[in-house]
Amino acid sequence: MIKRPESVSIRPSNVKLNLTDSIPKIWNRDDYMTTYVGNALSLLFPEGESFFVDSVKYFQSKIEDPKLKEDVKGFIGQENMHSLNHITLNNYFSEHGYGWVVHFSQWYMKVTTRALRWLPKRTQLATTVGFEHMTATVSEVFFSRPDVINYQHPQIRPIFIWHCIEEIEHKDVAFNVYNLVGGHYLERVFGFFVAFLFMNFSMALFISLFAVKDLSFLNPVALIRGLWIQFGWNGFFNPIFPKSLKALKPSFHPWEEDSSEVIVFWKQKLKKLEEENALYFDKRAS
Ligand SMILES: [Fe+2]
Ligand SMILES: [Fe+2]
Repeated sequence: MIKRPESVSIRPSNVKLNLTDSIPKIWNRDDYMTTYVGNALSLLFPEGESFFVDSVKYFQSKIEDPKLKEDVKGFIGQENMHSLNHITLNNYFSEHGYGWVVHFSQWYMKVTTRALRWLPKRTQLATTVGFEHMTATVSEVFFSRPDVINYQHPQIRPIFIWHCIEEIEHKDVAFNVYNLVGGHYLERVFGFFVAFLFMNFSMALFISLFAVKDLSFLNPVALIRGLWIQFGWNGFFNPIFPKSLKALKPSFHPWEEDSSEVIVFWKQKLKKLEEENALYFDKRAS
């Protein structure tokens, strides 16, 4: 039976951001679309993660296994910290030229997650299982591309490294709770498709809004370059789609891909970043 490696623990941590006015608007690879992908992901998180947390919390009282109880506590703590830091980042975007884009996204996320809450509770949890698979998949692909990470502006990079580490750490928690409360394959597949469509549609929408705000969609060279970076040869999104679809296997388990070494590597790297370049963390500020 596949299980999470013993070495992986789920403990909430923090990475306090020190975002200064010196961050360029286009902070990733000097490329509009690459920047918008990061911005759009950040806009999805606060409300999205509060939906994930609530869907798991609803079943918390049914859990008797002490280890799973601890995992759920860790999951809730981690997601809450992610939300808080992405609110900080989104406020930064709002104050630096993207006010209406951020406000619209907040309204959109409220309305759409409220609609998801009309689903039966266990189906909501199945949807969270789908979302968690998507966030872990994006995180694993992100860590397989140090070139992509290197292009990020150093003041924004830590939040993505930190968040992706924890998405991998807790990737099986909602899945384990779902199985415990009698979840079944067809509902899990339904939940996956809801999550897959929701995430892709919302990302495309938010990216388009940023492009409208900057009028960058009028620049065909930038548009083609952006599409090439995301979907062309060695495009960032290329491995994400086939990896996501692994969730459709009846025998799927989030830890069938053992990414525990990735976590160890990037935790060390994050610590090193913290030591070498404390400007981007709390320590320099204090
Ligand atoms: Fe998260
Ligand atoms: Fe998560």
